[in-house]
Amino acid sequence: MSRTLGLIGSGMIGSSVARLAVAAGFEVVLSNTRSPESLAGLVADLGGRARAATPAEAARAGDLVVAAVPLKAYGQLPADALAGKTVLDTSNYYPERDGHLAELDAGALTSSALMQRRLAGSRVVKAFNNITPHQLLSLARPTVAPDRSALPVAGDDAEAKAEATELLDALGYDAVDIGTLADSWRSEPNTPVYIRPYLGDVPAMSVDAFLRWTLGTPGIAVSSAQVGALVETAVRLPAGEARLPSDD
Ligand SMILES: NC(=O)c1ccc[n+]([C@@H]2O[C@H](COP(=O)([O-])OP(=O)(O)OC[C@H]3O[C@@H](n4cnc5c(N)ncnc54)[C@H](OP(=O)(O)O)[C@@H]3O)[C@@H](O)[C@H]2O)c1
Repeated sequence: MSRTLGLIGSGMIGSSVARLAVAAGFEVVLSNTRSPESLAGLVADLGGRARAATPAEAARAGDLVVAAVPLKAYGQLPADALAGKTVLDTSNYYPERDGHLAELDAGALTSSALMQRRLAGSRVVKAFNNITPHQLLSLARPTVAPDRSALPVAGDDAEAKAEATELLDALGYDAVDIGTLADSWRSEPNTPVYIRPYLGDVPAMSVDAFLRWTLGTPGIAVSSAQVGALVETAVRLPAGEARLPSDD
């Protein structure tokens, strides 16, 4: 089992993954755009198994690497340092935040296929993209728990998906293989398995209010069978119309 997790992006999702990883006994190497020093508070909070570095250093240090950055940053990921690595991509495409990307708007590529093209020497697996950061923490359970939740994974490389599945298991989740990166639209925004099953009914509110609201909600366990069924019912809508979660 890999024991060092590199994180490129240590914001809402990256820090939740890091927290679960430290609890599971991993060493974590955090990074962001600013500087390792800017992550001192998070490192102190996570304790002795955590340190901060540059994105390239975090990429090199990780047995597995999680890229938890806004999709618009995909072109800045350290492709050379990530070569040969399995990279778990948490990204979602929101044009209002990321700007319009023609191939994604046209449905010619999924966001993670775009990431894979950028990281040609890596094995990209889409994971952790369909759950909010607080619920990622609050719904994690040991393997034997009857109320353990599942998350979808998608990728083109079977071995990389197996590594991702093993990581999810260590962090508290079952994994449901939903296919290739081309299939990964089935867990993207605007699909049935995206965020809402883990939250239940969400009142209409602003994006910031939505994120605050999720902090007061324990979340709802979603089993592997439920994830499988939700993914099956997905209908592909134009990616360019994806709205941030609270906009509807
Ligand atoms: N929040 C959610 O509910 C949620 C749920 C599932 C998936 N996601 C997806 O996960 C991704 C991250 O979301 P988030 O909510 O965690 O975002 P966030 O809180 O804004 O954090 C983004 C992180 O990425 C870093 N970053 C940005 N560009 C970078 C670059 N070029 N190199 C290295 N680090 C970079 C930022 O560093 P600085 O702060 O130093 O700029 C920050 O640490 C997005 O694609 C999002 O759609 C989000």
